[in-house]
Amino acid sequence: MKAFPLLIAGIVVSMLFSCQPANVPVNKKATSPDGNITISVETRKGKVYYSAKKRDKVLLEKSRLGFRFQNMPDLGDHLEITGSESRFFNETWEQPWGEKRLIENKYDELTIHLKEKKDLKREMNLVFRVYNDGFGFRYEIPRQANIDSVRIMDELTEFVMPEVYDAWWIPAYKDRFYESLYRRTPINRMDTVCTPLTLVTKEDTYLAIHEANLTDYAAMNLVCLDSARLKCDLTPWSTGIRVIGKTPFVTPWRTVMVADSPEDLVTSYLILNLNEPCKIPDISWIKPGKYIGIWWGIHHGLYTWSPGPRHGATTANTNKYIDFAAANGFDGVLAEGWNRGWEYNWTSCDSFSYTEPYPDFDIREVTRYAASKNVYLISHNETGGAVTHYENQLDTAYSLYQRLGVKTVKTGYVCDLLDGKERHKSQYGVRHYRRVVETAARYQLMVDIHEPVMPTGLQRTYPNLMTLEGVRGQEWDAWSSDGGNPPDHTTIIPFTRGLAGPMDFTPGTFNFENPILPQTRVRTTLAKQLALYVVLYSPLQMASDLPENYRNEKAFDFIKMVPVNWEETRIPDAVIGDYVITARKDRASDDWFVGAITDENRRELILDLSFLLPDASYRAQIFKDGDNADCENNPADISYAETTVTASQKMSLILAPGGGQAIRFMPVR
Ligand code: NOJ
Repeated sequence: MKAFPLLIAGIVVSMLFSCQPANVPVNKKATSPDGNITISVETRKGKVYYSAKKRDKVLLEKSRLGFRFQNMPDLGDHLEITGSESRFFNETWEQPWGEKRLIENKYDELTIHLKEKKDLKREMNLVFRVYNDGFGFRYEIPRQANIDSVRIMDELTEFVMPEVYDAWWIPAYKDRFYESLYRRTPINRMDTVCTPLTLVTKEDTYLAIHEANLTDYAAMNLVCLDSARLKCDLTPWSTGIRVIGKTPFVTPWRTVMVADSPEDLVTSYLILNLNEPCKIPDISWIKPGKYIGIWWGIHHGLYTWSPGPRHGATTANTNKYIDFAAANGFDGVLAEGWNRGWEYNWTSCDSFSYTEPYPDFDIREVTRYAASKNVYLISHNETGGAVTHYENQLDTAYSLYQRLGVKTVKTGYVCDLLDGKERHKSQYGVRHYRRVVETAARYQLMVDIHEPVMPTGLQRTYPNLMTLEGVRGQEWDAWSSDGGNPPDHTTIIPFTRGLAGPMDFTPGTFNFENPILPQTRVRTTLAKQLALYVVLYSPLQMASDLPENYRNEKAFDFIKMVPVNWEETRIPDAVIGDYVITARKDRASDDWFVGAITDENRRELILDLSFLLPDASYRAQIFKDGDNADCENNPADISYAETTVTASQKMSLILAPGGGQAIRFMPVR
């Protein structure tokens, strides 16, 4: 199969080149293809600024651009615009997997050439791409006489709001691995925050600031300087330097999604569009799928990672999971704790071997047995943050996995600092994560990264980068001393973390008891657990509970039938933090699936079925909260119903407190 067949619907490229006399103030503009969003770029007293408008409403006021370096003067104080080029671009490309198959990539591009008026006379370009759903821009520092190596101490990029917008945010440096609950405050009451940062204006325009194609650079955070001025804060190396580079040099794209509703944020593909096309020549081996694993039992204390009487990843136990996976249509079985090293203090050591199994885990037998059942083993590689130690074993380990038929690697980085020194989202970390994805591609392995750097759409270029954590996932409901995730958490993350890319949230709990911490448990109803398979997108979806908890459960039918690869996605209704309805069309059939979830409040939602085909009738299989369901006191109460519907109807969905509803619509032939 050829990677990413490119369907060029039409490319119209117009090049304009203009050159102004150096002393005349210049203002350059680019407008989205639909004419709604306009970006202006201007220089004033040698400094360069951009601003953004949607129709006549200012979204961002004059916002500064430039750099502060360690090894040379700042770049941004004596600049003039020496020329510019514009072009219009329009293509439709196909995702091998994702929330939508065909992606329209249509924008107006403006490239601005800047040069210092004095001293070093250095040059820099700014490239803006303006889409109907937002814009992106990046810096290019071309090869030139007066810049060779660069040590960036600060990127001066700002996002200046005309008023104090509200934001949903998580702190950048206080909590680890982006595993926080989102807060909503005015922007001037935020900490330094991670991106994506989702904002709402007083007139209900939604913005989300993030980045695309984070390559050999530091991840961006944002800090609020004065009441409404956000500034880029690049994650530093331990030395304080933010980025080390060499010309020619490009930064990641700074992205701003712009939407009239939260629904339209979710169906924006701006970040993917700002990544490069697929670089893997043959992607026939990359397949989205569902998996189970020796995992929740470990987090609940039933099993251990280390060898001993309760060791989870034994040959016999893994083969039982393989039987269950094969019988129920799962693609993969994750085994955690199969490899040597867990008996040490694994979050601060470099004792893991990624090739040597414990004596009670016969990896050859397990992979042979898995293959005989058309299931594959997912190899878990916890690094404890010892990334150099891991990199030293990458080729040997990955080539072994490929020989044994392992198709996916789940990596982990539980530690404060990588190699005891550098932050996960520093340039050091970004380089490491990329090395893993590229090496995995060479050995035809898909990757699921836990404790990652925030995704930035790289799955377009490396579609073996399937899913990532970087979210407060369901595992917190096993061991978090704060009681677990509150019911509104999953009504926020599709509009915040979810905008960055797939999430390995690991839904699928059917048993709401916690043997170790009774106060900490999954705070949803069972129907909401099912709905999360539609609401939270991941091309690798886990059914996280123990196989014994799924036996004889009608609700398990939904997990078996729900796809992980979609032709199309719609958000019929949502209020961030209150409720979400997500509708997705299966890529392999004409079926639609709907997931609806609520926070701690009971709700009746109206689902307009106009997304269905107009001339067809559909059989709806409905998994809904029982009459007495409640995430606190009666989470397992679920009921099942069937009905026939058409696109002209509306359905009433009653959701219990902390509840949900999951529906499959199948055309009736
Ligand atoms: C944290 C990961 O999120 C979890 O999935 C894994 O089981 C543990 N680390 C151990 O690697």
